[in-house]
Amino acid sequence: MKSISIIGGTGNQGLGLAMRFVKAGLPIVIGSRDDTKARIAVDEIKEKFPNAQVEGVDNTTAVEMGDIIILSVPYKFMVDTIKSIKGALTEDKILVSLCVPLAIAVGGKATEMVRPWEGSAAEQAQSIVPNVKVVGAFQNICAARLMDLENTVEDDVLVCSNDKDARQEIMDLVKMIDGLRGINGGTLCNCRITESLTPLIIGLNIRYKVTKGLGIRFTYLYDI
Ligand SMILES: NC(=O)c1ccc[n+]([C@@H]2O[C@H](COP(=O)([O-])OP(=O)(O)OC[C@H]3O[C@@H](n4cnc5c(N)ncnc54)[C@H](OP(=O)(O)O)[C@@H]3O)[C@@H](O)[C@H]2O)c1
Repeated sequence: MKSISIIGGTGNQGLGLAMRFVKAGLPIVIGSRDDTKARIAVDEIKEKFPNAQVEGVDNTTAVEMGDIIILSVPYKFMVDTIKSIKGALTEDKILVSLCVPLAIAVGGKATEMVRPWEGSAAEQAQSIVPNVKVVGAFQNICAARLMDLENTVEDDVLVCSNDKDARQEIMDLVKMIDGLRGINGGTLCNCRITESLTPLIIGLNIRYKVTKGLGIRFTYLYDI
């Protein structure tokens, strides 16, 4: 079984995903800039799942330990974080970007976004590590839903990558989480579209007062 490391696994989205993977019986490594903070996150997971196979380490060690590296830091810190772990990101690894370039990164609103020169945050990540298989996924799921462990997350996750095998691997990983469907979103440039759905969702959450966040489900799509 491939090992999963979550960089920024101490944060809202990273910890929520970690909880869901652990609930599905998968071993997880939590990465942080501060290994003490990573171990605190591990304690939080073990409080809910005492038999969880989970370790907390610094970001570079987490990358070294993982086959699938999930990058879960705010867009503002994405480039610096990738540069800090680049040395350990060998070309056999898959880097999953769930970063959304919300305009808050430049003092704007969470309901608006900025457009990276490369087209999307995932493509920008790919440009920093051209030899690594970058996959964009999980950009549209709300952390509050992931953390609501009493209920399943009824979302579709659009998975985009230029590497077909890596894309399939992450679609299969998505399916391990009860309620989620991994949808083949095509090549990485489609992250321009998937990332832009998140500020729209945030606006909908505000207007319709959906406190835990609404999700995306494609209808009439069977056999996946
Ligand atoms: N929250 C959501 O509902 C949601 C939904 C969809 C997509 N996303 C995406 O998921 C990613 C993570 O979101 P989040 O809400 O989980 O973020 P977050 O909780 O604000 O931060 C995640 C982690 O980033 C690290 N971090 C914070 N400041 C940093 C800095 N100055 N330099 C480097 N790392 C720093 C921290 O890890 P350490 O201090 O442990 O290093 C922190 O725990 C974002 O790209 C966001 O667009 C989030």
